[in-house]
This record gives sequence, C-alpha cells and structure tokens, in this order.
Amino acid sequence: MQNNQINIGFVTISDRASRGEYQDLGGPAMLDWVSQALKGSWQAHSRVIADEQSLIEATLIELADVHGCSLILTTGGTGPAKRDVTPEATAAVCDKILDGFAEQMRAQSLKYVPTAILSRQIAGTRGASLIINLPGKPSAIGECLAAVFPAVPYCIDLIDGAYLETNDEFVKAFRPKHALKIAP
Ligand code: MTE
Repeated sequence: MQNNQINIGFVTISDRASRGEYQDLGGPAMLDWVSQALKGSWQAHSRVIADEQSLIEATLIELADVHGCSLILTTGGTGPAKRDVTPEATAAVCDKILDGFAEQMRAQSLKYVPTAILSRQIAGTRGASLIINLPGKPSAIGECLAAVFPAVPYCIDLIDGAYLETNDEFVKAFRPKHALKIAP
C-alpha cells in the first residue's frame, strides 16, 4: 500500500562541513537537483553530519523509520580515505543492496573524471526507503543522479514508498505500463 506523503532525506557527510569549517555545498546541490526533478509537493529533511559510522547509521535509520523518507540521498564519505565510511554505514542499515545503481553511477562518472573509480558509493533499500550514496563533490551530484534517476520512482513503487512523478523535460522516469497511474 503506497502512501502519498512524500518525504525525502538529504544527508551531507563531512567532518569539516559538520564543524562549520566550510559551507555545505552538497546538501543544497542535492536539494536543487531533486526540486527540478520532481513534480508536486514533497518535504525535505536535511542533515549535515560528521564521518562517524554510528552517526551515519542512526541518521539513515531516523530518516527512513521515523520520517518515512521514500528516498534518502547522501553526499560524501564514499572514497578510500580512512574517515570515508558512508558505504559501510549504508550497507549496515539496508535490507537489500541494488548494485546496478552504483555500477551505473560509476560508469557515467568515468565520462567526467578518471578518479570516478575511487568512489565506493552504493545504493540499497531499508523498508520503504531507497538510499543512494553520492560522492562529496557538488558537481558529481547531478552527474550521478542523472544516470540513475529514471529508475528511482519505479524502485520506490516496488518497495511501497510514495508515488514520485518527474518533470519529464528535466528527467523522465521509466515505469512499466502496468505501473503507471495515468495512461501515457
Ligand atoms: N564522480 C563524479 N561524477 N564526479 C567527480 O568529480 N570525484 C571522484 C569520485 N567520483 C567524482 C566522482 C573522487 S576524486 C573521489 S575521491 C570519489 O568520488 C569519492 O569522493 P567522496 O569521498 O567525497 O565521496
């Protein structure tokens, strides 16, 4: 049973941004991209937190289980550095990992930067929430989301999240015909 209240989580994972040592650019970049992508009204839940695995896990659980976010985007902490633990935290709270998202995001990112392969970003589901890791660089956000977003609304349908509709001139969601609420 799908609910119609759309909640979306945005989590910036950065020691320095969480301490206020630099401005969080990733959170606003994710919010801006999704605002252009989605039709209708929805509520944003934004967080800026340090690269601490237990804190990341608690934040993802809160956004999924308490706020009922159908989609949770994270930015940062996906690389090989010692403090980069976003994929580990995501894996720890997910029921299922959707490898295709990360494969597609890295393949697409490689068209922009050879260092795309350094991102260990993953995506997965927790209950009725889809969680997607994005790299910390603000420009990576649009590059990665454009690569996977067409599959996001139907994925959220399949896990009984909210029914998302996209602005087709910005990004066009793909749903099999039987899953469309209104005939195309
Ligand atoms: N993907 C895209 N699309 N654009 C980028 O600029 N930067 C890469 C990679 N993926 C990048 C990208 C780099 S340099 C790193 S180190 C990894 O993402 C991990 O970044 P993170 O630790 O900030 O998440």
